[in-house]
Amino acid sequence: MARGRKIYEGKAKILYEGPEPGTIIQYFKDDATANNAEKRAVLDGKGVLNNRISELIFTRLAGIGLPTHFIKRLNMREQLIKQAEIIPLEVVCRNVAAGSIAKRLGLEEGTQLPRSLIEFYYKKDELGDPLVTEEHIGAFNWASPQEVDDMISMTLRINDFLAGMFAAIGIKLIDFKVEYGRHFEGDTVRVILADEISPDCCRLWDMETNEKMDKDRFRRDMGGITEAYSEVARRLGIIKENE
Ligand code: C5P
Repeated sequence: MARGRKIYEGKAKILYEGPEPGTIIQYFKDDATANNAEKRAVLDGKGVLNNRISELIFTRLAGIGLPTHFIKRLNMREQLIKQAEIIPLEVVCRNVAAGSIAKRLGLEEGTQLPRSLIEFYYKKDELGDPLVTEEHIGAFNWASPQEVDDMISMTLRINDFLAGMFAAIGIKLIDFKVEYGRHFEGDTVRVILADEISPDCCRLWDMETNEKMDKDRFRRDMGGITEAYSEVARRLGIIKENE
């Protein structure tokens, strides 16, 4: 499918104009960054794995009635998606303490949280994506109260669904980050799930060994990154045992 003009290039993906008005082509790069792009690498095959993993997750979420931007996968690295106006927030859902919450609240990594927690971060690279509250979101008009409610309830639904899906293949869903957009259709506008869901934006630990199967392997110089992503894809049935 012919790509149009490049619209945006992010750290791990590129967006191009799609073939029809209102469509976009999302291209998955092999680039990995961490610490707000202080650390960079190219990981052979990561984009291909994330494209496939994200396709499977978005397709299954659509199957439970969750509105998403995903239309179809075009090839190894590209998806056709619906155009949406990205809400400038990263929505994080946590089940177990790890990463920034462990550091911020002095919790030991791996501590089960009393309940699933939702946090919002303002998407602003120059500021390192700071944690914000609903007060900030309302005051600065990043999203309406209804949109905040929609994002919270959709994120909790995604968490319930994904936690079960991963548990069935021996993986613990520690936390994940999602992004949402406004999709305009005629006179209506609604919040839809955008971006991607892949081991780049989730923490996934092997249920038996607690081995990390996600981007923390890159953040913490542990190596074996694409091997871990391939193992997630293998358990999800995306790639065959011997691939
Ligand atoms: O670093 P932190 O503990 O806040 O990350 C929470 C979750 O959000 C992790 O799964 C991480 O991979 C994801 N995340 C992300 N993009 C960011 C920040 C966090 O995908 N910019």
